[in-house]
Order: sequence, then structure tokens, then C-alpha cells
Amino acid sequence: MPPPARPLTATPCEALTGTARVPGDKSVSHRALMIGALAVGESEIHGLLEGEDVLRTAAAMRALGAEIVRDGDGVWRVWGRGIGGLSAPENVLDMGNSGTGARLLMGVLAGHPFTAVLTGDASLRGRPMARVAAPLTEMGARVVAREGCRLPLTVVGTGDAVPIRYRVPVPSAQVKSAVLLAGLNAPGRTTVIEPQATRDHSELMLRHFGADLATEETEDGVAITLTGQPELTGRRVHVPADPSSAAFAAVAALLLPGSQVCLPGVGTNPHRSGLFETLREMGADLSFTQRRQEAGEPVADLLVAGGPLTGVEVPAARAPSIIDEYPILAVAAACAQGTTVMRGLGELRVKESDRLAAVARGLAACGVAVEEGADSLVVHGVGGRPRGGATIASGLDHRIAMSFLVLGLAAERPVGIDDATPIDTSFPGFVDLMNALGAKIAPGAGDS
Ligand code: S3P
Repeated sequence: MPPPARPLTATPCEALTGTARVPGDKSVSHRALMIGALAVGESEIHGLLEGEDVLRTAAAMRALGAEIVRDGDGVWRVWGRGIGGLSAPENVLDMGNSGTGARLLMGVLAGHPFTAVLTGDASLRGRPMARVAAPLTEMGARVVAREGCRLPLTVVGTGDAVPIRYRVPVPSAQVKSAVLLAGLNAPGRTTVIEPQATRDHSELMLRHFGADLATEETEDGVAITLTGQPELTGRRVHVPADPSSAAFAAVAALLLPGSQVCLPGVGTNPHRSGLFETLREMGADLSFTQRRQEAGEPVADLLVAGGPLTGVEVPAARAPSIIDEYPILAVAAACAQGTTVMRGLGELRVKESDRLAAVARGLAACGVAVEEGADSLVVHGVGGRPRGGATIASGLDHRIAMSFLVLGLAAERPVGIDDATPIDTSFPGFVDLMNALGAKIAPGAGDS
């Protein structure tokens, strides 16, 4: 039974001020647990995201034989079983809402000679898995899924995985990562070619644990080659604050004149920075200071000051580095002066919800003129506070829920969401953190 819906309402407010550390990066947290479970010896993870999605991955890796304990706030220890050393789970692996958890785990399972069944919530059970099943099948695993290659599905893994050379047909770090994780237990070299570069957290984390990975520019895109059956050894990992979560506080601060907010230790991986680059082009007063490296990942403190924004054309080629931030970018665009055009958004239709449709519907309900195309969105900004005054269906999608709450802070009238429970998948403590900065987000349907 899903938990009961929790409505929330954001009320228009004035400036946000203060310093707040947003939770750990979701992508990096999944990888730290999975790769730690495939390493030999102990790994110590600091700043792990303790959100629902990542807790599902921890539970799955435990069910596969890794020892994983929580040792304090965000501090976790993992004793891995070595590559190919996981054991068959005794029950179905429920990955909850997490596409990253499910798809990366399919890669891990493909290189183990046993059978495992994966399921998830209604959102995850609706998401396409063929994109991962296809290369894993080429590598020798078998994937048996219900119609349309959706969860629940069964992975029949192999101890004799074949290394492949695979060109990813859609820009997806999840597909790339699944192939690389399966390639860990294949003799020889597994190559993934990406026509459009996507986040490289798997490559950085695998290297950090001792794997040999080479990247090379080819005519077809970047080719990433992993040498199979490396000895991975337990490591210490520091998880950066999640730029995708920082995005909500940052945009709220930008939209509320007089705001001054500092978000320390945010990941600045260039494959994740497209939102911040775009906001700067829109005129945002936003800067990164104290740049440093933590366990292979670049981080910095993000400083944001409120001020007016102007609409821009967002290049389609930037889509992979903005991908999870389009909903909050669209909220910023709604308050900007002039029109913002976003193209190359096809992948938004297969996220936790159809985000393109959800954003277009939600903005229109809040009085913002939008044009929704098959893979594009045009937002006609109002150059100030949009009307607001609507209740938005979050549709099991954390980023839709948080984006429209931010809109409510910067609108003329409150904006509610019908259910805040999905927020816990990626940003536990979102409401308290935002309210500590001066936001007004409260339980209940409000008077919208
Ligand atoms: C992720 C990759 C992206 C992103 C998701 C996290 C990852 O998905 O949207 O939230 O951690 O690899 P795709 O690979 O499907 O683009």
C-alpha cells in the first residue's frame, strides 16, 4: 500500500537568506553503495543521501550479500563481496521510485550467475527498461519482462558475460553505467560510445575504486573503455551535495529579490552544470567559490543573490547536463522577462512522470503561457510574479512537487501540491531547509 498523500502549500514570500547544506548527490550515492558492494574490503561513505531511492539500493545490495551499516548521520560502511561475488536474493528486489537504482542494478545483476526479480512503484513500473535490457542481452544475460519491457522483470545473469562495444542510442548515463557495471565481470574490454556525453559519475567512482577506464574522442562520440575483472578495493567516498537538489533553493533565491543564499559543497561536475550555466545567461547573480575536489568529484560553495532574469534560447545540445533541472528551469523562465525556448526534451517524457506534460500543465494552471511541443517547451515569462493559485498533481514525481512549491513562493497567490511524499526519494528535509531560509511551505491544501 502506498503511504497516504501529504498535501503541501507554498505561500508567496519575500527574500531568502542564510546558508544551508543540501543532502548528498543521489547519482553518486547509488554508485558508492553498488561499487562498494562489488569491491573487496571496507568502504566508508560520508554524506550519503539518506533518501528513499538510495535506501532501496542499500537494501538491494544487502539482499545480494553485501554487509552495509549506517554509522551516523550520512556515514555508511560497506563490506563488499568482490566482483562476481554477490549471491542470489531470496526475495523480489523492490527499487521503489528509482530508475537509477533499477537500471544500474540490472547491470550489476547481468554479470552474476543467478536470477533476480526487480519491481518498483507505479511510476517505476511504467518506465522503459528495453534500453538497458538490449545491451545486457548482447552481453549474455537474459531479461524477461512484462509487456513493453517494464518492471516487474527478471534478470537471469551469467558468470560468462561477453565484453561488447555498445553505442548508446539515447543519451543516458543509466544505460552507459549498466553496461559498464556488467562489464566489470566480463573478461576483456567493454566499450560504451556516447554520441552526447552524459554524467560521468560511474567512470569517476570506478576509477576511485581501482578500475582501469580509458576515454577517447571518436567520430561517433566519446568512447569509454573498461578493462574487465579488475580488483576493486574498498575506499573512502565523500558524496558532494546534490546540484539537482541545490537547484530548488538556488532558483527560489534568484526569484525573490533581496535574497542572499549560500549552499556549501555542491557538486560542480560539468555534466551536471547546465542549469547554472543557463541561469547565468538569463542574468542570474550566481557564483561558485572555494572550488575543490572530494574523492574524485569537483565541488564548490554556491552563492546566489535574488534579481531579475531574462528569457533565453537553451541549446538542445545542453539537454543531458540539465536533464533533471528542466522543471525548475521552467519555473525560473515563468518569472523571467521574455520568452525561454527549450528543445531536445524528449527524454523528459520517460522520467518519474511525463515531465514535459506535467510542467506545461502546471504552469498553465498558474497563469503562465506555454507551448508544449513533442520534445520542446516554450515559456512566456511574466517578468515578475506569475498568478499562481493552483493545486498541482505531483504524479509520484519529486522534481515536479518541489518545482511547483518554489513557484508558489515566487507567485502572487499560493501554489499547492497534492502529495509531497515523493520528495523524500531525493530531498529529505526539503521543507525544513527551505523554511529555515525564509520560505513559507506548510502542510495542507492551503486556500489555492
Ligand atoms: C541518472 C541519469 C539520468 C537522470 C537520473 C539520474 C544517473 O537519467 O535523469 O535522474 O544517476 O545516472 P538517464 O540516464 O535516463 O538520462
